[in-house]
Amino acid sequence: MKVDVGTSNYIQPEPCVIVSCRDKNGKDNALPIGFAANVSFEPRIIMIAIIDIRYSHSIITESGEFVVNIAREDYRDTMNYLGSTSGRYVDKLENIPTVDGDVVDAPLLVDCPVNFECTVIESVTPGTHTVFFGRVDKVHCDEEYVDEDGLIMWDKIDVLQN
Ligand SMILES: Cc1cc2nc3c(=O)[nH]c(=O)nc-3n(C[C@H](O)[C@H](O)[C@H](O)COP(=O)(O)O)c2cc1C
Repeated sequence: MKVDVGTSNYIQPEPCVIVSCRDKNGKDNALPIGFAANVSFEPRIIMIAIIDIRYSHSIITESGEFVVNIAREDYRDTMNYLGSTSGRYVDKLENIPTVDGDVVDAPLLVDCPVNFECTVIESVTPGTHTVFFGRVDKVHCDEEYVDEDGLIMWDKIDVLQN
């Protein structure tokens, strides 16, 4: 027997990725994103959906670049911090290790084992969130999680879940 539970429900489990970006003054920022997915094999495209009041929304709209960082469970406190304050008011990455992307002008979060450098190829705002479609230009992975064929051993990573 099925029960109507209303349309306020959405697909679970949600992923939880950390998106990082850089504003036009060179200030880095990051936020956790639950609305994220793979959308194309060739080219490789990832989508992230961000509400327009987020500081990161204005950064990515302007820069057209972002990094999707995959965190481990031990990043939960950092994720909660990044998701509970806005980079509009504070420098959230002040004490969080980062390195510059190789392709995009945005930081990689060093303590996240996998990082996807992305360039926005399209964006659309069908509802509350703007969906940014990012072409994946480069993928980084900590050496310990890469097998002899160059593939990421996802089963070895304790990926942070929402
Ligand atoms: C687990 C989690 C998932 C989130 N998912 C999203 C999301 O998909 N889209 C969004 O716009 N905000 C999402 N948020 C909220 C933003 O991360 C949060 O408002 C953040 O502080 C915005 O930072 P900013 O203003 O520096 O960009 C999420 C927060 C958490 C904790």
